[in-house]
Amino acid sequence: MANNTNFKNLQWTASCGLGDDVSQVGNFYNGATVFVTGGTGFVGKALIEKLLRSCPGINTIYILIRPKRGKDIQCRFEELLKNPVFDRIRFSTDSTRLFDKVVCINGDVSDHELGLSAEDKQTLCSEVNVVFHSAATVKFNESLRTAVTLNTLGTRRVIDLCRSMDNLKAMVHVSTAYSNADKMTIQETVYKPPGDPDYVINCCLKMSEEDLQKVGRKLQGKHPNTYTMTKAMAEWVVSEQADDIPVAIVRPSIVTAAWKEPFEGWVDNISGITGIMMEIGRGTIRSIVCDQKLRVDIIPVDILVNTLITSAWHTAVHRQNAVRVYNCTSGALNPLRWEELGGLTQYHSLAAPSKYLQWYPGFSFRTNRMVHRLCEILFHFVPAFVLDIVLRLTGSKPMMLNVYRRFKMAARTGEFFALHQWHFISDNIKQLNKDVTSADRRAFPVDVTRVVWDSYVKDYVFGIRNFVLKDPPSTIPAGLRKLQKFYWLHRLAQCACLGVLMHVIKLK
Ligand SMILES: NC(=O)c1ccc[n+]([C@@H]2O[C@H](COP(=O)([O-])OP(=O)(O)OC[C@H]3O[C@@H](n4cnc5c(N)ncnc54)[C@H](OP(=O)(O)O)[C@@H]3O)[C@@H](O)[C@H]2O)c1
Repeated sequence: MANNTNFKNLQWTASCGLGDDVSQVGNFYNGATVFVTGGTGFVGKALIEKLLRSCPGINTIYILIRPKRGKDIQCRFEELLKNPVFDRIRFSTDSTRLFDKVVCINGDVSDHELGLSAEDKQTLCSEVNVVFHSAATVKFNESLRTAVTLNTLGTRRVIDLCRSMDNLKAMVHVSTAYSNADKMTIQETVYKPPGDPDYVINCCLKMSEEDLQKVGRKLQGKHPNTYTMTKAMAEWVVSEQADDIPVAIVRPSIVTAAWKEPFEGWVDNISGITGIMMEIGRGTIRSIVCDQKLRVDIIPVDILVNTLITSAWHTAVHRQNAVRVYNCTSGALNPLRWEELGGLTQYHSLAAPSKYLQWYPGFSFRTNRMVHRLCEILFHFVPAFVLDIVLRLTGSKPMMLNVYRRFKMAARTGEFFALHQWHFISDNIKQLNKDVTSADRRAFPVDVTRVVWDSYVKDYVFGIRNFVLKDPPSTIPAGLRKLQKFYWLHRLAQCACLGVLMHVIKLK
């Protein structure tokens, strides 16, 4: 009770306006209890870390966790807190007190009432002030049934829970900037999705897999995949069914490594662009389907996390009638083209090569799919095949064909996004940046124009090396020796190919 009173008082003082050097956002979270879904994911982990570290007055952070791959939630929770993302907290003097604030709750967004026990539901309903809904399946090629169950129906279940909360101040739904990938200019408003969510949910609940697949393509409309379609429907569900609760939608574009916090370049997955950058650096990718002149819209995970944290405050304190949408994107504010991102990745990978280098780095962007497919066979499949034979012969486990298949799949599902560009309007982010105090602008920066892409990509490449490949800077000399060896092998292979080609021409 004391905590809630404290929370209300602080919220009041925040809305009255304090000095510019007071952290209104920090104060907002003093005594607040937060509920996070998707806390074990890339975004969720960074969010929990930042809340704990920068809002030390926070009361409790409840995280929804499901059992997975034979591990119960306690085991997964312990693993989560051991993640390097929490190292800054772990090595602080306050670590035990801060970690004690995090509590795991057993649940699954695909289950009725999120699979919560009656007791846990009661706790959440009476205590929670702020909800961050980040759980989702982010697989582009997920089956429609699973994507709808998690992304659309799951969001509806979170809203139902929010509606039962006695002290809710804000709910923030994490969407995606590509939830409207079927449009080219995207305002900060919720658009009607091609399929009526209730109808699509019903189809998924009642139809056989075979029938669902038949109607699925039609229901998808102009959406490139089930992910963007089901996230669009989730937004519609939020705008239609959560209009009586203080709710915001934050739409990040492609979420990438941390700009500054908790560590420059922190990243812990190899999905999407991170995986492509890693393989460019290891020299396994030689050809990518992409229009290099287009903008690539990326948003560092810490800028997204700051936007989530401050948008909850904004929603509670500067409440408006309609759902406020924040396009958390970089394209219009600090544009970066694919050719720049690719060039910087290659440049910084060559400067600090990993000991896991597979070949001398070098790649081309191509818009011609036929030429790309040919290059894919020649420069991806054949070397992977040969390397796996060598690995087998030397008694090691073959793995290069698996890498090849994984990248091929990821690249195909991402092609649509590498051949189109969108214009995202970001007025609400600009307004958010104006409404916070200077203290909050320092503690929770949301302004992507401050990112210098060259140094950011340098840190990103280091982050992939350090956090994903677990290859510390001390191995750079070994990486450089390997790079030199591969350079000469690469030149030798080029000369051999040229020789064969000239021989064939001569024979003709
Ligand atoms: N990453 C991006 O580039 C990007 C871009 C735009 C928008 N977003 C949005 O940002 C949010 C977070 O994405 P992310 O990158 O953090 O994804 P992620 O790393 O794949 O994390 C997904 C999270 O959702 C949880 N989850 C999935 N199914 C669940 C279920 N049935 N019940 C409970 N939890 C479940 C996962 O838990 P488990 O650990 O149990 O699987 C995990 O914590 C998503 O809403 C996504 O749409 C991401």
